[in-house]
Amino acid sequence: MAANQDSEDPEEEIPFENEIDGLLARLTLKEKVGQLNQLNGSEQTGPAVEDVDLEDEIRNGKVGSVLNADGLENRERYQRIAVEETEHGVPLLFGYDVIHGFRTLSPIPLGEAASWDPDAVRASANVAAAEASASGIHWTFGPPVDVARDARWGRSMETSGEDPYLAGELAAARVRGFQGDDLTAADTVLACAKHYAAYGEVKAGREYNTVDISESTLRDIHLPPFEAAVTEGVGTVMNAFTVFEGIPAGASKRLVRDVLKDEWAFDGFVVSDWNSFREFIYHGVAGDERDAAELAIEAGSDMDMVGHIYTNELVNLVEDGTIDEALVDDAVRRVLRSKYRLGLFEDPYRYFDDERRKETVLNETHREIVRDVARKSIVLMKNERDVLPLDDVDSIAVVGALADSADDVLGDWRGCGRPEDAVSVLDGIEGTVDNAEVRYAQGCDRSGMVSATLREEAIETVEETDVAVVAVGESYELSGEASSRSDIDLPGEQQELLEALQATGTPVVAVLMNGRPLALPWLSENVPAILETWFLGTEAGDAIADVLFGNHQPSGRLPMSFPQTVGQVPIHYNHLPTGRPQHRAEAGWGTSYLDIPNDPLYAFGHGLSYTTFEYADLELGASTIKMNEPLSIGLTVENIGDVVGTEVVQVYIHDLVGSRARPVKELKRFRKLELEPGERREVTFEIESDDLAFWTADEVFAAEPGEFDVMIGHASDDIRLTDSFELRA
Ligand code: GLC
Repeated sequence: MAANQDSEDPEEEIPFENEIDGLLARLTLKEKVGQLNQLNGSEQTGPAVEDVDLEDEIRNGKVGSVLNADGLENRERYQRIAVEETEHGVPLLFGYDVIHGFRTLSPIPLGEAASWDPDAVRASANVAAAEASASGIHWTFGPPVDVARDARWGRSMETSGEDPYLAGELAAARVRGFQGDDLTAADTVLACAKHYAAYGEVKAGREYNTVDISESTLRDIHLPPFEAAVTEGVGTVMNAFTVFEGIPAGASKRLVRDVLKDEWAFDGFVVSDWNSFREFIYHGVAGDERDAAELAIEAGSDMDMVGHIYTNELVNLVEDGTIDEALVDDAVRRVLRSKYRLGLFEDPYRYFDDERRKETVLNETHREIVRDVARKSIVLMKNERDVLPLDDVDSIAVVGALADSADDVLGDWRGCGRPEDAVSVLDGIEGTVDNAEVRYAQGCDRSGMVSATLREEAIETVEETDVAVVAVGESYELSGEASSRSDIDLPGEQQELLEALQATGTPVVAVLMNGRPLALPWLSENVPAILETWFLGTEAGDAIADVLFGNHQPSGRLPMSFPQTVGQVPIHYNHLPTGRPQHRAEAGWGTSYLDIPNDPLYAFGHGLSYTTFEYADLELGASTIKMNEPLSIGLTVENIGDVVGTEVVQVYIHDLVGSRARPVKELKRFRKLELEPGERREVTFEIESDDLAFWTADEVFAAEPGEFDVMIGHASDDIRLTDSFELRA
């Protein structure tokens, strides 16, 4: 497997390795360890750590990388110290969390995943890379490629949702968008797939909690997006804070050295998470810092983020013979390799060009690109009586503090994004309508609390208008790191407000903002139209107005199931069958709850359009295929409505009998199609036995011969065509 972008070109690779050999021979052990040390600049993205004088540490050759350094000027000053005032002048690597944009923000990753559009996602990552690179950043701590199956977990917002295949496609798209083909180019940065691995399985959705899953869940669900990122050439990987089988991810030789570096031939470097080597002590697997350093370096974790564990301990560990210096050399080689690939040895100041920064950051083209992906990320969850689009209204009430917030729309992990650059829902609507009157009423505050005055004012406004667009959901800080919730309904009194507005008889359109699936049974039952808008970034309001008024067709699909109630969580479409499935069980003996149904409120893949599509003519290329032989799947899709629309054709399979139980459905392919009214299009897919592989009872990743169902449709719970085929040995 090609593990990095240079590995296929030996001509390119050799000079770097020779240079690295030379440099490694010149550096003292202490200087080498310095390369494995990352210190913090100003903004703090974790609990307080030991305070040191950053400039002195750089001058003393004790720093290989700096994160969260503030501003181009500071970065340039630190770089000058590293290059001009240290013995060997090894340049620093500047890292930053560029998660969904640097200054021009795209939707939060979970929202962007709803676009099911790898090209748009790649373009958005490329905007982020161009702005970060022009601001002196070399390395983003993204993309997060964790799979999230528990909506209580606040970091669901950083992920691409519950499905390993969709997450893998988007992981690859983001790595391509960040890194491009050439890391020395002006619009690229080094990427980082995180958090390795299985962080999304924290028990009860509680942040940083224990992860305790099987090897097959690890291999089938959580590792595929990481492997996709590695195959795409991702330059770095970050350890998760959590344990796997009782061992913190950064101390896990099996995860880091065996799987990532050996099985997948990853030749980049692995960075800890914020202080996570020291946290081995708090997990209770290391007695002290020395133990922690030994575990981390043995496991293959190469760089220590802000923990001072490597600088405090590695030299002693080598000198007293506890660890082999070759382990340190390998880690340093990987870090230096990244610096060479970025062109930092050629010109350590190439990323500090203020003119380029001014031209690049927040430019019009970037705003257009993020508006495009923002529109594509909106999911029309419900649209009764065709309330949407709003094409024939004289007056519109816009309600909710979130509707008037240019802050919340940016979401968490907002990099250098600023509310003053962003378009709120109210601004977007006001800027789009020509002939309708727009009236705003706050209704509730950002936390969803309603006072008598706010309530009355909102009711009065809504009574006097043709339609009410009500923004409800979570303020942005309710999702993100350390932001788990035990309840995932509408915070505060937002539902009561909606009930009162609904009672006026004016049609209500709920515009949802949230960083995770919410449980919204009342909303779904009562409000005629629901538009899921996540936190859409800088161009949020314009993108939402585009869809509300029908200037853009809604085409997003849910990347994560929306439960009926938090009691169903974790809930995901690709669950295993049980021995007592509901449909065949004798009454009372099926897998179920006494008080709630099994099905989610809105399933994975759900999303409506302003038109409808018909599926027909499913044809498999063969009824039997052999291992490594492709199977073609053909069908037609027709837009049977009278407006243009975009469908996301979803291909699922079910492996009927396996050496381990197989999920009832697994997404294997998808395609986004824009169809004119009446247009009919043939679509073909190809799958191979590799696509059918899983972690078998023999503990290998392989496809097993047997019968497979193919299910094609509009959503995981809306399958329109089915057939089956056999895989022969
Ligand atoms: C954190 C996060 C990680 C981030 C890092 C640096 O606490 O878990 O995702 O990249 O700190 O900011």
